[in-house]
Amino acid sequence: MVSQKDILAESSQVLIENYGRLPYAMVRGDGAKIWDADGREYLDFFPGFGAGGVGGHCHPKIVEAIQTQAGVLLSHGNLFTNEPQVDLAQRITKNGFGGKVFFCHSGGEANETALKLVRLAARGERRSDGPFKVISFSNCFHGRTMGGLSLTPQAFQVGFEPMVPGNVMVEYGNIAAVEAAMDDDTAGVFIEPIQAEGGMNVPTVEFMQQLRKLCDERNVLLVCDEVWTAPARTGKMFAYQHYGIEPDVMTLAKAIGGGTPMGVCVVSPKYADVLVPGTHGCTMGGNPLCAAAGAAAMKLIEDENLLTRAVDLGEKAMQQLTAADLPGVAEIRGKGLMIGLELEESFPAADIWKKCMEAGLIICVAKNNVLRVAPPLTIEQDVLGQGLEILIKVMKGHGRAGK
Ligand SMILES: Cc1ncc(COP(=O)(O)O)c(C=O)c1O
Repeated sequence: MVSQKDILAESSQVLIENYGRLPYAMVRGDGAKIWDADGREYLDFFPGFGAGGVGGHCHPKIVEAIQTQAGVLLSHGNLFTNEPQVDLAQRITKNGFGGKVFFCHSGGEANETALKLVRLAARGERRSDGPFKVISFSNCFHGRTMGGLSLTPQAFQVGFEPMVPGNVMVEYGNIAAVEAAMDDDTAGVFIEPIQAEGGMNVPTVEFMQQLRKLCDERNVLLVCDEVWTAPARTGKMFAYQHYGIEPDVMTLAKAIGGGTPMGVCVVSPKYADVLVPGTHGCTMGGNPLCAAAGAAAMKLIEDENLLTRAVDLGEKAMQQLTAADLPGVAEIRGKGLMIGLELEESFPAADIWKKCMEAGLIICVAKNNVLRVAPPLTIEQDVLGQGLEILIKVMKGHGRAGK
């Protein structure tokens, strides 16, 4: 087997350095565990950056679905359909707000689809003028493609301007600011029902309900970006369900593919026929391989009662973290198994993150000062406890060193 050192040396010759990668090459995963090329084991509380969110690494049911499908049909182009994509679409719409879906490969692409759709829907027909503005929120993240980037905070945009015109960013949770930003040219509002990259921020029920009402009054489409929050991560299949509202459009990616590349734009019955032939497409979108993996992940949620599990384990994790009386923590927040620890300035989150990695635990950092913990929903309770103990030990060790 090639050593980690050799893989890393070769990688630096051929992989573009756009990620600020850590010096590890991964070779194998199993549930909440992953191994690097030197054979070192880690507890992965951020599997696949969210993509392994349901079953962790290589869940046997998902692997079986992929292996079976791989031996039968990989792709066929979108002038045809296939059973796995219908199965996955039914599981999504049945658990959500009905409607229809468009399949692609990533969150960025799902949001591009939604951006095109809100313009067409707000215009009522395919014409070159009419509503085009989109409202998004401070600290949001909607992807790196030009459309998604245009909705995302300015720091991500630097060097790539000009952006797609018509995007207005307002304060997350401020309904008066949304109202002031809306005019006759507004086509849509994009919101994460819990912000992920922005620091695991949870809006109030009142705000989300006011937002829904305002969009209805102004005939503006409400788009929930659930790329991080679904499926089941927050203890509901889709996070909008915490607020007693339904969006017009919902975008999904990451865990919805069961660990394979999958993006989905879900459209409510009212707007399900807006995209007609010729308006949008994606060659490999809904290919039977990824659709079979996604359907297996959704089935796993049902079969293993992962919604209840996300709530139960989320509560246990919160209790363990709170009881540890951690130094340097300003706030612990989140829902289900989507947890954020906001740190005080004396606790640089990047240091804690790297020390956790050295101690055998993978987590992540958002917004420079928030630690993100999002283990697979299938994680065993004792493994969850062990991983959190590593984090607690690292934080307490840092506290002592800092004193
Ligand atoms: C809420 C949200 N939307 C969209 C995206 C973009 O997804 P992708 O990286 O699959 O394009 C991300 C990525 O982290 C995200 O967190």
